[in-house]
Amino acid sequence: MYKFEVEKERIYVRKATLKDIPAVIEINRKCLPENYSVDYFYYHLNEYPELFFVGVVEKDLKVEIAGYSMSRIEYGFSNFSFSLVKKGHLISIAVLEEFRRKGIASALLKETIENLRRKKVDELYLEVRITNEPAINLYKKFNFVVTNKIPNYYSDGEDAYVMAVKLKS
Ligand code: ACO
Repeated sequence: MYKFEVEKERIYVRKATLKDIPAVIEINRKCLPENYSVDYFYYHLNEYPELFFVGVVEKDLKVEIAGYSMSRIEYGFSNFSFSLVKKGHLISIAVLEEFRRKGIASALLKETIENLRRKKVDELYLEVRITNEPAINLYKKFNFVVTNKIPNYYSDGEDAYVMAVKLKS
């Protein structure tokens, strides 16, 4: 009788590299209607390499990019007060459908927040469709709160919530 072991799934998050960008673009196109130009992804990897992550799934000798998060740093008004602050902006995060609910987006967000804290960033904000319950729940888990609502933010007319979290105590 043949005996074999099915390799366990190994999931981890690491910084994105140039080679990952085609997979990231494919995930973005599959998962979100907000599709950016190819240059936009390369620009963010080049400018903010410490804020661009991929989630990797290894199983049965197959290595697959399952998700990504892309963020940047901006200077502007706080989402919580009228002061000027250094802000992280989570531009885009997505995980392929077959790899969802395994904690990949949480791990991507955790790495992003840790690196923003290292860079002494005051807060992190993002825009999300008001009907995107999975994403809103994910952000709430990380203590984000809704700080604003932008009517007609998306090209199909849907409104966006601006959600933000303070990173400094
Ligand atoms: N329904 C309700 N809550 C959910 C769901 C869901 N389908 N999916 C995730 N959550 C919430 C839960 O609170 C979950 O915690 P739990 O599993 O302990 O209950 C928490 O999010 C964390 O879940 P993860 O497993 O870390 O999230 P996942 O890897 O599945 O990715 C994501 C979540 C990114 C929202 C995924 O569903 C996705 O890619 N959706 C399509 C793309 C998208 O909407 N991206 C966000 C757009 S906004 C922006 O990019 C700034």
